[in-house]
Amino acid sequence: MAFEKFDLTGKTALITGAAGLLGMEHAAALLESGAKVVLTDIGETALNTARNQLVQHFDTARILTQVMDVSQPAAIQMVAETLWQAGVRIDILVNNAAIDPKVKGDQGVLETSRLENFPLDQWNMQVAVGLTGAFLCSQVFGAAMAKDDKGGVILNIASDLSVFSPDQRLYRKKGLPDDMQPVKPVTYSVIKAGLVGLTRYLATYWAEQGVRANSLSPGGVFNSQSEEFVQRLSTLIPLSRMAQRDEYRAAVQFLCSDASSYMNGQNVVMDGGRSAW
Ligand SMILES: NC(=O)c1ccc[n+]([C@@H]2O[C@H](COP(=O)([O-])OP(=O)(O)OC[C@H]3O[C@@H](n4cnc5c(N)ncnc54)[C@H](O)[C@@H]3O)[C@@H](O)[C@H]2O)c1
Repeated sequence: MAFEKFDLTGKTALITGAAGLLGMEHAAALLESGAKVVLTDIGETALNTARNQLVQHFDTARILTQVMDVSQPAAIQMVAETLWQAGVRIDILVNNAAIDPKVKGDQGVLETSRLENFPLDQWNMQVAVGLTGAFLCSQVFGAAMAKDDKGGVILNIASDLSVFSPDQRLYRKKGLPDDMQPVKPVTYSVIKAGLVGLTRYLATYWAEQGVRANSLSPGGVFNSQSEEFVQRLSTLIPLSRMAQRDEYRAAVQFLCSDASSYMNGQNVVMDGGRSAW
């Protein structure tokens, strides 16, 4: 059968930040391939909304939810124990949670996205979620995958900004002096490059126990951004457009299944060709 290796029937995937824009898509992708999913996020209401949307298309019994803050080791441990006690083995971990503060540029206000002004508490908080959170989840769920020799898959969701620097011209606001121009914050680049490093480390660490790790680096997803921004960004992309939210589903299905059984430690960049220019 042509797609046999993509079949995830009998597997369970845990997704962090699952109630967000792409988290929902990863969940749908894995459900389409036959997996059970554990949607995790910080808020119960958002998780219930996500679940309610997914049950319109997929079997309720395959969709579990757990509130889990990835920056809290005790919360991760508690979710792991709850799942293990219920006999749920996590075969796939998708480290997707992140904080992506929107670039605003409010006139007259100190522009805190700029490196010179970037608050240390924001740095610590964003790194705690986007990078340390992926480490902590891998520590708990990856170690468990390695322990019983059944193996598993870790997929880290990075970004095209893991391989190149943000083009700050995209975020410029007319009429603001240079030192007040908003920028994509330094944390985003650091976290995403860090995830690629974490991926390589994990890929070799548990390879003999059958645990593979890869990262997926998506380019910007169209989500009703301003026309001006979309136009500016599109000129940097050979395909001349942003991604649709469902365009990463097939990559997630590939990377989380035996279809990619010989891929390990790689960063799959899907950016409409932006990094080729
Ligand atoms: N949307 C894009 O254009 C794009 C492009 C490239 C990469 N990415 C990456 O894809 C991933 C998902 O992005 P998205 O666009 O869906 O973002 P999003 O903001 O819609 O979703 C992120 C989710 O993470 C959750 N979260 C925040 N703090 C958390 C914590 N402490 N513990 C657990 N969950 C927490 C949020 O509640 C939210 O549901 C991120 O890693 C992002 O960097 C997104």
